[in-house]
Amino acid sequence: MTRILITSALPYINGAKHLGNLVGSMLPADVYARYMRARGHNVLYICATDEHGTPAELAAREAGQTVEEYCAEQHAIQKEIGAGFNLSFDHFGRSSGPENARLTQHFAARLEANGFIDERTDKQVYSIEDQRFLPDRYVEGTCPHCGYDKARGDQCDNCGRLLDPTDLKEPYSSISGSKNLELKETKHLYLLLEKMQDPVTAWFEAKTDFPALTQAITRKWLKEGLRDRSITRDLYWGVKVLKDGAPRAGFENKVFYVWFDAPIAYIAATEAWAGEAPEGEMRDWRSWWRLDEGAQDVRYVQFMGKDNVAFHTVTFPGAILGSEEPWKTVDALKTLNWLNWYGGKFSTSQKRGIFMDRALDLLPADYWRWYLMANAPESDDVSFTFEHFSSVVNKDLADVLGNFVNRITRFCVSKFGAETPSDGAYGTAEADLVKDLENRISAYTAALEAMEFRKAFAELRGIWVVGNEYLQVAAPWTAFKTDPSAAAASVRAGLNLVVLFAILSRPVIPASAAKILAAFDLSNDDVPAWPETGGSLLTLLKGGESFNPPDVLFKKIDDEQLAKWRIEFGAPEIDGENAG
Ligand code: MF3
Ligand code: ZN
Repeated sequence: MTRILITSALPYINGAKHLGNLVGSMLPADVYARYMRARGHNVLYICATDEHGTPAELAAREAGQTVEEYCAEQHAIQKEIGAGFNLSFDHFGRSSGPENARLTQHFAARLEANGFIDERTDKQVYSIEDQRFLPDRYVEGTCPHCGYDKARGDQCDNCGRLLDPTDLKEPYSSISGSKNLELKETKHLYLLLEKMQDPVTAWFEAKTDFPALTQAITRKWLKEGLRDRSITRDLYWGVKVLKDGAPRAGFENKVFYVWFDAPIAYIAATEAWAGEAPEGEMRDWRSWWRLDEGAQDVRYVQFMGKDNVAFHTVTFPGAILGSEEPWKTVDALKTLNWLNWYGGKFSTSQKRGIFMDRALDLLPADYWRWYLMANAPESDDVSFTFEHFSSVVNKDLADVLGNFVNRITRFCVSKFGAETPSDGAYGTAEADLVKDLENRISAYTAALEAMEFRKAFAELRGIWVVGNEYLQVAAPWTAFKTDPSAAAASVRAGLNLVVLFAILSRPVIPASAAKILAAFDLSNDDVPAWPETGGSLLTLLKGGESFNPPDVLFKKIDDEQLAKWRIEFGAPEIDGENAG
């Protein structure tokens, strides 16, 4: 048994997350956590909302709330939606909590003591009318690269380039619209990443378990050479900047940059998890994070979209190494590409695409979970279309898995009654089936271990298909007339397959799996957490066990429904070639 620490990139607080955010970090992390728990490991899955920075302040202003109110409300909403998707966080915390403030200030103090932080004076955009500095998105203007006239101070949404507020042409304040801006000198703290080039490179080179995409992104950054980065901002909402425990002179109206405190919130959220231990349960967060207090045994796995990688393989490790304290760093890092919306981008700011809250109004979580994981953007970006989505749901879930479960349970009831038939013995067909399944299960298991999710769920789908093929050949509905005890044995095998499918499917479609097991009056604890090989796959259910055929497990999505959703979500037209 291993202790496995899992974190998924912390979702930004501003607004519901879209399906791309979900499949880019939280969902694969959840599937992996569920799988690893099923294998008997001691898993701790930590996530939190990423609450600081300009976007939160601006969104709160737009909502007419204080930023504290706004974040509290949005956190509660995201927590509830996460539960709706069955995301099995051990803790879903907040980067604005007191633990993170303390830890962030601690890391900054250590880094400064070790010579990795410098105070520097530089020029920032200042709005005379608003009487404040305009960091990041507080200033908008024309992109110097592509000429887009609504580029934001931190990034151009049109060409995607990262910007500095001082790069913008014809800048204006996004608060007041005022163009009466000047460049004014002010102090900021810089993280001296240039000094960390060698240690970070050495740290990275020692990581044997980073997949190709993670490595490629990191190498590109390391090759371009690390640059010192400002880690403070002229903002109200964030972790306060201290010196020797008191407000730091010249930094009274500044806070740490959100990307400095956010990854530290993985640790802080673990501390908060420990702080919420129920009576009688001991939770030691340091044993998960401090190499000198037990974490040398922990395997730490992170999940994130590709835009987050460099922050996790370069800047955050830089901050940890620079602290010169024995903190746990990531062992394996799963990077996902983008899920696109009809070939374009999902967009939070433009409300384009499907968001997690709306998705659950359309269909139960498992439909989305299956589609997203079976088509996870691993080797490449993937385009979401309703057409593709409904064809996957109809084929995989309704025709293959759902149909199997509903068909065999109903057939059994109609011919043998609502219990597993005891009659008849398994023969070569069942022995071959078991062998085939064992091979497939080991391929499925290996893919999950390797976090190759598309491959894993192609294997799982293959396992469901094999069940259908077995029934097709055994054909108990025909055999029943000539050899009822052979029919009884194949029905018993079929019902065992149903239970086996439920066990194997739990990491990805937990609610449907539980529904199947419940039909057999089984709870999660009544069946093996993961199937055992050694020939016993078709003996989970003995003869004479009663059950109730479940209701239709998965409903098909028909064309009429599809057409309605297309209109409701403003889905672009697609040509015939890309449909379905
Ligand atoms: N909020 C960021 C995003 O959605 C991810 C932050 S990950 C963290 O892109 F580690 F920094 F928290
Ligand atoms: Zn641009």
